[in-house]
This record gives sequence, C-alpha cells and structure tokens, in this order.
Amino acid sequence: MQKLVILSGAGISQESGISTFRDANGLWENHDIMEVASIQGWHNNPELVLDFYNQRRRQLVEVIPNKAHTIIAQLEDQYEVTVITQNVDDLHERSGSSRVIHLHGELYKACSEGNKNLVLDWKEDIKLGDLAEDGSQLRPFIVWFGEDVPLLDLAADMVYDADILIVIGTSLQVYPAANLIHFAHNAKRKYIIDPHCQDYTVPSDFVKLAMKATEGMAKVRDELVG
Ligand code: APR
Repeated sequence: MQKLVILSGAGISQESGISTFRDANGLWENHDIMEVASIQGWHNNPELVLDFYNQRRRQLVEVIPNKAHTIIAQLEDQYEVTVITQNVDDLHERSGSSRVIHLHGELYKACSEGNKNLVLDWKEDIKLGDLAEDGSQLRPFIVWFGEDVPLLDLAADMVYDADILIVIGTSLQVYPAANLIHFAHNAKRKYIIDPHCQDYTVPSDFVKLAMKATEGMAKVRDELVG
C-alpha cells in the first residue's frame, strides 16, 4: 500500500464548529493566544488557563467530525494513512482514523506539571488542587509555546517516507510543525487545501486547492481513488 500522510490544522475542524486560531486576528475564543497557550501564560495565571481548556474540552461533546475527517478515515481502505495533526480535539479518531499523531497534545489527557510523561486519560474539568500521582498539579496535556514538541521526530520520519502528502487547514505559521512540509522528499503528489493557501509559501510542487476542507478532501479523494 502507498503511504499517505495528512498534516492537519485547526481549519479541518472549522466546519465542525471549532474556531481556528488565527482567523480572528490572533484572538482565540476572545483570548490572547499567548495568555492561554504558552508555558509563561500557565505560570502567570494557571486558573485562567485551566478554565480555558476546560471550556475547549466541554465543547468537544457538542461537535462531531465533518466530511473531511470522514474521507481521511475512509482512505485507509486504499492507503496506509498516517494523520499528523496540530489539533487537540479527537475528531480524527472519532471519524475512524487509526493512526493519529497529536503534535500539540490532546484535550482528553492531563499530565503532571512536574513530569509531562505522567499522563492520564481525562474527560472532566481540571481544577486547581487536582494532583498527579507525584503530588504535582495536573495540567492540560498540551504542547504550549515555549515547550518541546516530543513527537516531532516521529512526524518528520512519517513525512519523509510519504508517497503522498496532504496539508489541510493550517496557516503554517507555527514552528516547528510548519517545517514538516519540507521533509516530503519522496512524495510524488503533494496537496495543500486551505481557503487562503494562495497566500502561503510552499514548495512549487504542491497543488494548491483554495477550498474548504470538506470540498478539498472530496476533490483529492476523487483523484486518489478514481
Ligand atoms: N477548511 C480548511 N481550512 C480552513 C477552513 C476550512 N473550513 N477555515 C479556515 N481554514 C484555514 C485558515 O485559512 C487558516 O490558514 O485554517 C487555517 C487555520 O490556521 P491557524 O488558526 O493558524 O491554525 P493552525 O495552523 O492549526 O495553528 C497551529 O498554533 O496556537 C497554535 O498550537 C496551536 O496547533 C495550533 C498551532
């Protein structure tokens, strides 16, 4: 089977009703991104950060995967599909994708503030005073600005081995994730699907589809499955 790698960002979940980060001028659900999504923000105001991610976690029960997620899951019938997502929602998993790498963490997990390797499945709110087994405060299992991206090397290997790469719904502004598109040395077909992709600088062998995720994935599926 050919290897198909998807690199997804917030735009793929937009049609499910989850806001992107940068479409609202750097505000994310009315917050400055750095206040709620950086290690500095956590140190400054952990209560605000917990509340913010508690709201995002609660929102997950109100949303469902859209057609773009579903098409990606169905492509597993014809391809060996690996999804590398910057998203912390679980919509790829819920639509049936079996190999999902969450570069920036997962809303349904919590970890120890003192040791990010102490990870728990967590579906409830996290509150100040909720402790991990090492006695440290629990925090969202999210890769914030100012932190390492532990799954980056694994993701880079996947992109390197890809026969086909589809980049979807990401503004490619956040590094090191944005750099992954340059590792696709062996891919014979490369697509970028995003309503604003004409404005983005990507290698010249990418096919640019300036469309919403659902429409763009349907078009690529027709090309790949025929
Ligand atoms: N279909 C496809 N793309 C869309 C849609 C849609 N329906 N709606 C918006 N987009 C595109 C926007 O044009 C934009 O290019 O989705 C992209 C979203 O970009 P960002 O909001 O910057 O999200 P993303 O690239 O995932 O952000 C990366 O930033 O704050 C961090 O850790 C956070 O993982 C996140 C990272």
